[in-house]
Amino acid sequence: MPVYDKPMIYYPIYVLMETGIREILIITTSRDQNLFKNLLGDGSQWGMRIEYKIQKEPNGIAEAFVIGEEFIGKDNVVLILGDNLFYGGNLKDTLLEVNKREDVSTIFGYRVKDPRRYGVVEIDKNGNAISIEEKPKEPKSDLAVPGLYFYTNDVIQIVKKIKPSARGELEITSVNEEYMKMKKLKVEKLGRGMAWFDTGTHDALIETASFVQTIQKRQGLQICCPEEIAFENGWITRKQLKEMSKKMLKNDYGNFLKDLSENNVD
Ligand code: G1P
Repeated sequence: MPVYDKPMIYYPIYVLMETGIREILIITTSRDQNLFKNLLGDGSQWGMRIEYKIQKEPNGIAEAFVIGEEFIGKDNVVLILGDNLFYGGNLKDTLLEVNKREDVSTIFGYRVKDPRRYGVVEIDKNGNAISIEEKPKEPKSDLAVPGLYFYTNDVIQIVKKIKPSARGELEITSVNEEYMKMKKLKVEKLGRGMAWFDTGTHDALIETASFVQTIQKRQGLQICCPEEIAFENGWITRKQLKEMSKKMLKNDYGNFLKDLSENNVD
């Protein structure tokens, strides 16, 4: 699904790339898998490795860690939901800092006007989580938990222990509660200068597209452009970037890539 001028999936992939992650497993329904494969291939165009797995039934977000067990192996792991967009000046620094933590897991908190649609975290003065609830009718705070989670490797075992919720899903919030009980959960607040969107409703999708359009038109830069980060990270060469731009010179995206490859962007 496009959000303004690029596929939605580019936005979460951008976040992982900014974190320095080059190996991604994309989990979809069986119906959607080929769309993603056709679009992203094996990831080598961006100097990455992209693999695919199917979630057969809507058993909840946390099932990702069982489906991805082999892919994850012995490493720590980051999960990002395919409909989430993050954008903001100090995002990269935050991601790199959080990714350094080896022995604790990290989730984020983002102030929203109506938290009832989300996981909601309540924190104490020191930023420790006191409670986490999934879509509470009466939220205990205004901090929504965005769909971006940095977990230690034991998340696989934790998911195998938790029970499905009343709606029959393995909730990511139950995983976070377990980490909270183990005192191995950090909550990082995303501040005022940060944009976070969950495009899961029609309204939200239009609002997100309009955000992207406004900034891109104003600055003449691209928001969340995987080719740019691949180049910045040294995963692809200038020549590769230029070649990619040639296929898209009829639109702003392609011209942005061309400018990048010619050193016309700073
Ligand atoms: C999911 C999670 C929720 C989280 C949200 C963020 O909800 O269950 O905790 O706050 O993603 O996008 P969903 O959007 O799948 O209903």
